[in-house]
Amino acid sequence: MPHLHQARIESGAARRLGRNGTEGAGRHDTGWDDRSHGENQRFPDPTPPDFAREWLHLYEAGREEGTREGFAAVGGDGRFLGVALAFGIDRAEGELELGYIVCPEARGRGAGTAILRALTDWAFAEAGAARIRLVIDVENPASLRVAERSGYVREGVMRSTYFKNGQRIDAVLMSRIASDPPPPP
Ligand SMILES: CC(C)(COP(=O)(O)OP(=O)(O)OC[C@H]1O[C@@H](n2cnc3c(N)ncnc32)[C@H](O)[C@@H]1OP(=O)(O)O)[C@@H](O)C(=O)NCCC(=O)NCCS
Repeated sequence: MPHLHQARIESGAARRLGRNGTEGAGRHDTGWDDRSHGENQRFPDPTPPDFAREWLHLYEAGREEGTREGFAAVGGDGRFLGVALAFGIDRAEGELELGYIVCPEARGRGAGTAILRALTDWAFAEAGAARIRLVIDVENPASLRVAERSGYVREGVMRSTYFKNGQRIDAVLMSRIASDPPPPP
């Protein structure tokens, strides 16, 4: 799978986010299913029936407001790899948060790192970011590694921070600021 290293991000989040929410069929026939959600991101688990539709509306409204952006991540061979997300975009303060999910089948081959690097480049170049933050579950070593390999600096652990569904977790706060050196290739 050599092309996974060449992930690019395309405007418009993937349209299928689970067996429960395939109504919004779009450009990418993702093969996304409930396993894609995993435990380490903020989608409810399991996803409620209308989740995909509501989530897409949230991102479409956020795009209009300038507070959110969602991308489909696509490999060099055109295959859908996952989603790349920006939220809490505050152009006045030059800050935002990023998130990413890779399809289970595509994991472990550099896709997550390629996606976060592409998303970071976009945030600095297109979204006016001076500081980008990531909030990563302390028990998500793969994501922590992706962040580190993408040039993010660990700032500390936020204890018992709100995660989802009433659940609280300890989460690592990581950041990149515009003056940080880019990560090695
Ligand atoms: C986290 C995630 C995006 C990683 O995607 P990926 O395509 O596998 O990432 P990469 O292949 O670029 O890199 C994964 C790195 O983590 C490492 N890794 C994977 N599992 C690990 C583990 N259990 N312990 C330590 N390191 C681990 C890999 O070795 C690799 O590091 P390396 O390149 O130095 O060898 C993917 O697992 C995912 O989508 N998870 C569910 C959603 C999620 O957690 N999103 C992030 C929310 S903050």
